[in-house]
Amino acid sequence: MFRRFVIAAAVATLTVLFPSALLGQEAPTAPGATHQPMMMPKPVNLKVLPKDTSPDQLMKIMHGYSQALGVQCTFCHSWDAAAKRPNFASDEKPEKSTARTMISMTNEINAKYMSQIHDPDAMEEQKTVACSTCHKGHNMPVPFKAPAHASSEHPGMEHPGTPPKE
Ligand code: HEC
Ligand code: HEC
Repeated sequence: MFRRFVIAAAVATLTVLFPSALLGQEAPTAPGATHQPMMMPKPVNLKVLPKDTSPDQLMKIMHGYSQALGVQCTFCHSWDAAAKRPNFASDEKPEKSTARTMISMTNEINAKYMSQIHDPDAMEEQKTVACSTCHKGHNMPVPFKAPAHASSEHPGMEHPGTPPKE
């Protein structure tokens, strides 16, 4: 069952990412490389992303989610067995619903809180929170474990009374 799902997911991704590969026309482009434009229909079931998101923008966003979580499209999107392809508009999978909540959460963190931080040391990608900030390539964020000798990296913690160096 699991194996079947994995194969289905792999085929799903192939079909979506490289439709021409399945037709044997062109060598598939490696994931992450600049790929040919995909023929995606206009989205019909956007509830969180702006309704006027173009198919092109949507694909960039969706690739971003897949990479941030280290998953295939069918982690969030249900598989239409009859049509042998994912049904992207379907809300069948709970992961899609969780992702919607996560999108709203991330938007609110940035709009309401990160916008109040004006840290001159922060690089552009550090000024906002993204899916990758927490997920780092995992579908479930990995719990943080402090390194065994943390105290040597944080000298102030060895002797809590020591004044900061600056
Ligand atoms: C982490 C979960 C997640 C992953 C992975 C993901 N998506 Fe999505 N996708 C969503 C969510 C959530 C929506 C709906 C957004 C909304 O309601 O505004 C969506 C919507 C879509 C839609 C619009 C469907 C419609 O008609 O409304 C398309 C097309 C789509 N995704 C394609 C893809 C493709 C292709 C991939 C893989 C490259 C992918 N998605 C990976 C969560 C995901
Ligand atoms: C502030 C940290 C944080 C950010 C930012 C974040 N997530 Fe999450 N996400 C979590 C945590 C923590 C969980 C696990 C929650 C649980 O299972 O109770 C989770 C779980 C999920 C799951 C369910 C995974 C599973 O295996 O069931 C999906 C899907 C998801 N996130 C998608 C996203 C997407 C898409 C984004 C960006 C729009 C995002 N997350 C941004 C912290 C975050």
